[in-house]
Amino acid sequence: MLGNFVYCNPTKLYFGDESLNYLNEELSKYGQNVVLIYGGGSIKKNGIYDEVMKILKKNGKNVAEISGVMPNPTLAKLYEGIEIARKHHADLLLAVGGGSVCDYSKAVSVSVNCKEDPWEKYYIRFEEPDCEIIPVGCVLTMVGTGSEMNAGSVITNQETKQKIGHVFASETIMPKFSILNPKYTLTLPHYQMVSGIYDIFNHICEQYFSGEDDNTSDYISEGLMRSVIESSRIANKDPQNYEARSNLMWTATWALNTLVACGKSTDWMVHMLGQAVGGYTNATHGMTLAAVSLPYYRHIMLYGLNKFKRFAINVWNVNPEGKSDQQIAEEGLAAMESWMKELGVVMNISDLGANEDMLENLADVTLSMTGGYKVLERSEIIEIFRESL
Ligand code: NZQ
Ligand code: ZN
Repeated sequence: MLGNFVYCNPTKLYFGDESLNYLNEELSKYGQNVVLIYGGGSIKKNGIYDEVMKILKKNGKNVAEISGVMPNPTLAKLYEGIEIARKHHADLLLAVGGGSVCDYSKAVSVSVNCKEDPWEKYYIRFEEPDCEIIPVGCVLTMVGTGSEMNAGSVITNQETKQKIGHVFASETIMPKFSILNPKYTLTLPHYQMVSGIYDIFNHICEQYFSGEDDNTSDYISEGLMRSVIESSRIANKDPQNYEARSNLMWTATWALNTLVACGKSTDWMVHMLGQAVGGYTNATHGMTLAAVSLPYYRHIMLYGLNKFKRFAINVWNVNPEGKSDQQIAEEGLAAMESWMKELGVVMNISDLGANEDMLENLADVTLSMTGGYKVLERSEIIEIFRESL
């Protein structure tokens, strides 16, 4: 392990089918004014809203609500939420939902006391907050992003079609606590479940496919990937399987809570490509990643051949006997492709609403990052999008 790093993750996790009880304990640490933040209404249908409200009332909290946080939360919605949280003098922002609700709550948290325009400050200039931030707690209902235990926050500016993620450097932006009850994920539609599964897997890949050193993070990543593959196959056939869904919930958290990034460079290029598609089509996050992944990985494979060979053998059980390194690596990607098709994730950006005419525009909003096996030229980005159509 050759990199230098600092590791600190202060988010307290409560895991399991009784974990919501711990909300009582957490609420006692904060003031009276709580802003409950949630999405388009799934929590009202499945009863989570009532359960959370009951606990808030029991603890005598003064509750305001920000509802209707959409998947891929928008800047306009952020401005609206900032006003509500300001008026309510929020002591705690309680996010009840998936990655979109958690990300959005973090964005509100750093913006309520911010004197500048948060879009310009946090998403264009990537600055850190220099104002007081409002603490965030999460009750997670959708698995995939890792937002429950990281400092990432992705916001979409619908006017400019920019979907930008800021991973804040300070761990103070991470949720103070997150409640992970796998049962809450059982009402997710199949489309969202498999999208989240691919998101988890890809988060691990993004960190795994970099560097040549012998790095403990890569061994942890391989274990996490094997667990995702195993549990996803069970959950895909039997979505109500609590054991599989709980493993998926736990791997999602560890896939993107900074642990497996330790000692790694990482360029997050699949996310850069996927976010460009998301900005233009508003498609579901995990599906945008799935749709660009294979053309991208096949494009960079020869630049990181050793790691792709290792991925094939250690993650996909490819038998290396009598094969060249390239053949082994290709078999690994073919195994990943079969698994993706088995899950039923979207394999082409045209199925998400992108088309040939958009390719230049997509390239315009794709950030080309360093830290992986190949820094992509604009022409390569366009080629990958074309192959993803
Ligand atoms: O809005 P409601 O009605 O709640 O419905 C949601 C939404 O339509 C539904 N849902 C959530 N929990 C449910 C449920 N439906 C039934 N039962 C439940 N228990 O699922 C839909 C998707 O929810 P969303 O929160 O949008 O999904 P996800 O968790 O995938 O979050 C996606 C957002 O996170 C960002 C993405 O870019 C995207 O904006 N990301 C955040 C990251 C981070 N913080 O580190 C990293 C990721 O790579 C990602 O970029
Ligand atoms: Zn992701």
